Amino acid sequence: MDTKTIDQLLDRFETTGVVGEGNPRIKAITRRLVRDLMIAIEDLDITSEEFWSGLNYFAEAGRNGELGLIAPGIGLEHFLDLRLDEAETKAGLQGGTPRTIEGPLYVAGAPVAQGEARLDDGQTAGEVVVMQGVVRGTDGKPVAGAQVEVWHANDKGGYSYFDTTQSAFNLRRTIVADAQGRYKFRSVMPVGYSCPPGGATERLLQQLGRHGHRPAHIHFFVSAPGHRKLTTQINIENDPHLWDDFAFGTRDGLVPPVHTNADRAAMNDLGVDKPFYEIRFDFTLHAEKASAPATDFARPRAAA
Ligand code: DHB
Ligand code: FE
Repeated sequence: MDTKTIDQLLDRFETTGVVGEGNPRIKAITRRLVRDLMIAIEDLDITSEEFWSGLNYFAEAGRNGELGLIAPGIGLEHFLDLRLDEAETKAGLQGGTPRTIEGPLYVAGAPVAQGEARLDDGQTAGEVVVMQGVVRGTDGKPVAGAQVEVWHANDKGGYSYFDTTQSAFNLRRTIVADAQGRYKFRSVMPVGYSCPPGGATERLLQQLGRHGHRPAHIHFFVSAPGHRKLTTQINIENDPHLWDDFAFGTRDGLVPPVHTNADRAAMNDLGVDKPFYEIRFDFTLHAEKASAPATDFARPRAAA
């Protein structure tokens, strides 16, 4: 079928069974996506068997809560980041900590701590890491009281809430920066996440000849009144998947050096008997800008 016939068909669909105005935006998006799909079916000669198997694939992925994993896995979430970057550049925003994907594993409602927090519940295996820094505006001034929401995986790559063997809100906190914009936390080193074995995402990746691993990383939402919300992650350097992330989340500027601290007094202060890791990382937030698309957009998220 040629595209002219497809367009005539879509015209007919749009004028058949009409009972009201509907939603113009949804109508435009639906027409466009259906058209693109029809053209793909034509161009690639997608068989009926392939079509129904694809439909069923998405149905199953939805039932198992994997659509939020497929979006980063096929690069769509990173694509949305690049579009936001572009829109900010157009709006004259420059500098600032790079954004990167949120992923599907944030949980709202984590305990709030003032200035400092310990993220692990004390039962979580792994090497101790202390991370700290300052939240600033692009003018270089500290942002007092900035909210630093942090979440990361344990030493097996699992996230509390989704991994029900972990305690509630393990490795998740909201830290309110102090008057100098400083935040600090102690936790245990995360290990890279892998998408669920045998699940929809992994099966698709296998068909694409790709793996489903992420390098070790720590997620952040950093926000403050009058500033654009920053969604980002830092990566742990030297991870074998650092630049080979199935979700395309690693970016320049988000790989801080990891130091080993073997100072006796520092170890005693933390109550540890082995050297621990230290990371310094400052966040730079853009001031609010009406001409750039919102970065604190609604998205269905888990809450506990
Ligand atoms: C996925 C998992 C993550 O931990 C993450 O940060 C991003 C994406 C995923 O399963 O798609
Ligand atoms: Fe993650």
